[in-house]
Amino acid sequence: MADALKIGIAGLGTVGSSLVRILGERASELARTCGRPITITAVSARDRSRDRGVDLSAIQWFDSAVDMANSADIDVFVELMGGAEGAADQSVRAALARGLHVVTANKALLARCGVELAVMAEDKGVLLNYEAAVAGGIPVIKALRESLTGNVVSRVYGIMNGTCNYILTRMEKEGLSFEACLKEAQRLGYAEADPTFDIEGNDTAHKLAILTTLAFGTQIAADEIYLEGISNISTEDIQAAADLGYRIKLLGVALRTDSGIEQRVHPTMVPHDSVIAQVDGVTNAVAIESDILGELLMVGPGAGGNATASAVLGDIADIAKSQPGTQRVPVLGNPAASLAPYTRAQMQSHEGGYFIRLTVLDRAGVFADVATRMADNGISLESIVQRAKGAEEDSKTIILVTHATTEHSVRQAVDAIKSGTYLAGEPQVIRIERPKAF
Ligand SMILES: NC(=O)c1ccc[n+]([C@@H]2O[C@H](COP(=O)([O-])OP(=O)(O)OC[C@H]3O[C@@H](n4cnc5c(N)ncnc54)[C@H](OP(=O)(O)O)[C@@H]3O)[C@@H](O)[C@H]2O)c1
Repeated sequence: MADALKIGIAGLGTVGSSLVRILGERASELARTCGRPITITAVSARDRSRDRGVDLSAIQWFDSAVDMANSADIDVFVELMGGAEGAADQSVRAALARGLHVVTANKALLARCGVELAVMAEDKGVLLNYEAAVAGGIPVIKALRESLTGNVVSRVYGIMNGTCNYILTRMEKEGLSFEACLKEAQRLGYAEADPTFDIEGNDTAHKLAILTTLAFGTQIAADEIYLEGISNISTEDIQAAADLGYRIKLLGVALRTDSGIEQRVHPTMVPHDSVIAQVDGVTNAVAIESDILGELLMVGPGAGGNATASAVLGDIADIAKSQPGTQRVPVLGNPAASLAPYTRAQMQSHEGGYFIRLTVLDRAGVFADVATRMADNGISLESIVQRAKGAEEDSKTIILVTHATTEHSVRQAVDAIKSGTYLAGEPQVIRIERPKAF
């Protein structure tokens, strides 16, 4: 049997400690599959005294991840600390600079400087693997980077944040408010103490930026993503969506258009009978539409120690199986130097259906005025209904669903409605996304 592959793991939290445990439990099976043993020779975290539920006594400890990356006794640097800057950034660069293979689960780091890191890896002829960085255990990176080679991808979209999906699912199933569901998610450990990054869509945006690059062969453009979180979704929206045959999900969507690539993260209404609408709780789903294959939909665990460690393990095994000097899978699907500049399609020209919920004063002529504003802007309506708002007697709710139109037209129409005197609350606008095959 070939020599052991020596790995150093920086970060022993949820993912890192699961990985250490699994590598111990599956050592002989992995050695057989990979044709060589995989041995943990070094680990690093902040607090050496913390009990991580795994035996680290025979493994060299480093207080500094950068020192570990410079240690002579590792072949692969596994980065599981997180964060776009600081120790993760410095140690991954140190490892690549000296020609070590790197495995990371860090979407924030890749979204910020993935192209630079890819150039470093390709210059050294080493692998930079990051399957766990998008949708946890779902093998979407491999699908886009390797399996779909030769396909022209038209759209990639998905549910990529378990916290948001958990909250939206609970809101729908139990009629609870956003705040109540967020508290419950925090209690169960599905949401961070500071959940802003998840609920405002930034986490999904990081993952989407990586998928966009793999799907369309463009530079990573994480700062060019239209972003809207889920914190202003109300139970009223969820109920109205359900009445109309839709569910609300936080989707990340990357779409090829004639004027460039649309990247957007926002609450989205998806038809109730589509598969993605049935993806509940912390589960993730990613759909890829391409010309040769058609539509591919992958659903599975998007987070958690085991699911994420499973993806990291697959990345490590790929390195163990590879022959030195034959690293032929470009980090970002295409050689980093050949990635095209990213051209952003303007959000104003986004085309699709829209759900609009208006709270209006209960006056004669309002309903007709709303319909007129829509028509003035060339918006044709699939449905328009008026219902009593309930508690407040002098207001009503008008719910509109449009046929395909543009963001520009909808904004114009909503602005025109706002300039009237009958609105009793801020209008709610939610985009509709229609899966092709599923
Ligand atoms: N958790 C998931 O479900 C999941 C899913 C997909 C991807 N990921 C990604 O996986 C990575 C790890 O996530 P996690 O949930 O395992 O995080 P975590 O539980 O917070 O663990 C982070 C670990 O990194 C260590 N660390 C932090 N800063 C360090 C530094 N400067 N030097 C050395 N060690 C340092 C911490 O040390 P101490 O333990 O001593 O504090 C801890 O062991 C992140 O990039 C995350 O985005 C996580």
